[in-house]
Amino acid sequence: MKFEEVARIVGKVPLMSPEEGRILYDFIISTKSQQILELGFAHGTSSCYMGAALHEQGTGHLITIDNDSAKEREPEIESLLEATGLSSYVTPIYSQTSYSWELRALLEQHQADGMTQPIFDFCFIDGAHAWEPDGFAFFLVEKLLKPGGWILFDDLDWTYASSPGLRGSEFVRAMPVDYKTTAHIERVWSLLVTQHSNFHNFRREGRWGWAEKKGETSTQSRAALDSIYLKQSISADGARLLKKIVKRIVRRS
Ligand SMILES: C[S@@+](CC[C@H](N)C(=O)[O-])C[C@H]1O[C@@H](n2cnc3c(N)ncnc32)[C@H](O)[C@@H]1O
Repeated sequence: MKFEEVARIVGKVPLMSPEEGRILYDFIISTKSQQILELGFAHGTSSCYMGAALHEQGTGHLITIDNDSAKEREPEIESLLEATGLSSYVTPIYSQTSYSWELRALLEQHQADGMTQPIFDFCFIDGAHAWEPDGFAFFLVEKLLKPGGWILFDDLDWTYASSPGLRGSEFVRAMPVDYKTTAHIERVWSLLVTQHSNFHNFRREGRWGWAEKKGETSTQSRAALDSIYLKQSISADGARLLKKIVKRIVRRS
């Protein structure tokens, strides 16, 4: 499925912009990632961008995990998958507890001779944005990620205190000040991910942090990321230039 086609259907659905969706889409296609894991799907917007890339390459599957509460979202993931025709490429898992618990089930399913067999090429972590579940999820995901596979964290700058939806809640008001003002994912990134001996090729782009599990394909996929971000900055520059030209023409007329 072409990017434009999926963006036409989910482009206005929260919580991922088409610009971000394009990066995920291009990354999957250029690295030929096939087995993908997502923690936190919400409405399923990011899942559709990734599913569309798998559909375009004709192979691969996305397992994506969220809480049961995601069923109440409007729109919810199943309807988006139906609208895009991507249901066969994406399996949503609804957890009654947490993705950490569902990751335990995946670990149990993929054991051989008492060792975890890594199965994923790429994992997108965009869930709780909190130290406890996501710090732990990182170590679980590391076990399931193939050598040469990539992990991507969203929202490195997110804090409870700056969240428009949460900062006024009783729950957040009762938190210790340092807990609610600290960017938890940034701490997971700088204290756990970038110091982990199995990872390298760290790349921070705005709110996103990319890391590759050491393996054989590093130069290829690092080059793929370079070219994706270069393409994005060229098209953003082009859009800015076009805006300026249109503004000047409008002013003159
Ligand atoms: C930012 S949203 C995901 C957005 C989605 N990836 C996108 O870009 O379209 C985060 C989601 O993570 C889910 N979540 C948070 N903590 C979780 C946990 N411990 N287990 C499962 N899901 C969780 C929330 O329910 C929420 O839907």
